[in-house]
Amino acid sequence: SHRITLGPLVAAIDQGTSSTRFLVFNSKTAELLSHHQVEIKQSFPKEGWVEEDPKEILQSVYECMERTCEKLTQLNIDISNIKAIGVTNQRETTLVWDKETGEPLYNAIVWLDLRTQSTVERLINKTPGRNKNHLKHKTGLPISTYFSAVKLRWMMDNVDEVRDAVVSHRAMFGTVDSWLIWCLTGGKSGGVHCTDVTNASRTMLFNIHTLDWDPELCEYFGIPMEILPRVRSSSEIYGLMKSGALSGIPISGCLGDQSAALVGQMCFRDGQAKNTYGTGCFLLRNTGPKPVMSDHGLLTTVAYKLGRDKPACYALEGSVAIAGAVVRWLQDNLGIIESSEELEKLAASVGTSYGCYFVPAFSGLYAPYWEPSARGIICGLTQFTNKRHVAFAALEAVCFQTKEVSALVLPPSAGDTMNDLQRFYCSMLSAVKPSMPETTALGAAMAAGAAEGVSVWSLSPEDLSEVTSEKFEPQINPEESEFRFARWKKAVQKSMNWET
Ligand code: G3P
Repeated sequence: SHRITLGPLVAAIDQGTSSTRFLVFNSKTAELLSHHQVEIKQSFPKEGWVEEDPKEILQSVYECMERTCEKLTQLNIDISNIKAIGVTNQRETTLVWDKETGEPLYNAIVWLDLRTQSTVERLINKTPGRNKNHLKHKTGLPISTYFSAVKLRWMMDNVDEVRDAVVSHRAMFGTVDSWLIWCLTGGKSGGVHCTDVTNASRTMLFNIHTLDWDPELCEYFGIPMEILPRVRSSSEIYGLMKSGALSGIPISGCLGDQSAALVGQMCFRDGQAKNTYGTGCFLLRNTGPKPVMSDHGLLTTVAYKLGRDKPACYALEGSVAIAGAVVRWLQDNLGIIESSEELEKLAASVGTSYGCYFVPAFSGLYAPYWEPSARGIICGLTQFTNKRHVAFAALEAVCFQTKEVSALVLPPSAGDTMNDLQRFYCSMLSAVKPSMPETTALGAAMAAGAAEGVSVWSLSPEDLSEVTSEKFEPQINPEESEFRFARWKKAVQKSMNWET
């Protein structure tokens, strides 16, 4: 059988909260040639705790790589055409391992985890004026359970193995990107301990202006700087794959998944924005080479730095913790559906939830509230309410959350004198959906290719319109939409205050 001749290929590991994927693209067309996906188990050992197994995460990456390579071979595509591999990952999730044994010293504490709520409340209470934005001028972030520093601090305070390893200089800290790159480049025998500026910007230990770890922040959280990975750009060679079918191929791209999606959706210009639905959903808007601070509960984060000598670009971000996770919750915890498709069908069969509203504040509320004490509620129930209405309310909640952050993130379409309320009314939820859904992986593969001289950026605006295809406009009438949104916002207030 003959082999298909293709241009150079670029690949990406996409390690998300709920699943891992490995994907291979044709660099000439950005076409997805083959991929494999594996689900990741999450454990909830206590109320509000969310953990994953670092070894399972690593294993899932190897499995996805192997299976994808098999599929490529079946397609008669030579895997030696793969020139570069990018890593993109769930951000903030915190790991500590022993550099001598290569063993993780605790489960990964997932970004959604709430165990640090009391620590966060204590830290905020200690700041002048109880200001959760006390560290924002350096980090772009509010003090919250979301980011890595408090999770790492918790491990050092509560896990003997972690504390001992720190004391005896054997501990390595990393987010998922660092763990994977270290393992894939050789682990305890010469693995590279690094991260990129986008992932580092989610730890709360990183100064987004100097683009380096900040000694004062490390001091504030009591983190020894020697356990931190080296910070690199998002596009450069970090190291080579050490084993397996892809051994010897450079790992040369690294971005947090939301940054990678911004790149993959080609939002390179100031003002361009994207929203990605996964476990949570994250609306990011490129603000160019200067960090812009929000007074409205948005994060300022490093968008990307595509090369050692390239400037960093920044983004404003509206983070929503629970989006796809609400579907999994209805399936696994309530058992009212057996698949996500079923949820859509149930919801569509009623077309409204009438007076029922759902606020999925399972991990507190993120943007724009940053309220770790919030908890999920389903309200407005009557004897008339059934699971179809709950299904509708769950999906509607995902839309409302997007609508809420989009009003803050998206630039006003006309003039600059609009207040928040006007801005909100102007922001229609019209959007364009890419025909190739794997834009997160594409972004990481593009970054990896760029470092190896394989450019996917040669795509012209016409090619780009191929990438972005389907257009959506709001379907519901605006008055009805506003009425329901106002009601939902009342439910949000209740989710924050129900304890008092
Ligand atoms: O900040 C968390 C985010 O990176 C996770 O993304 O796609 O796993 O929900 P996702």
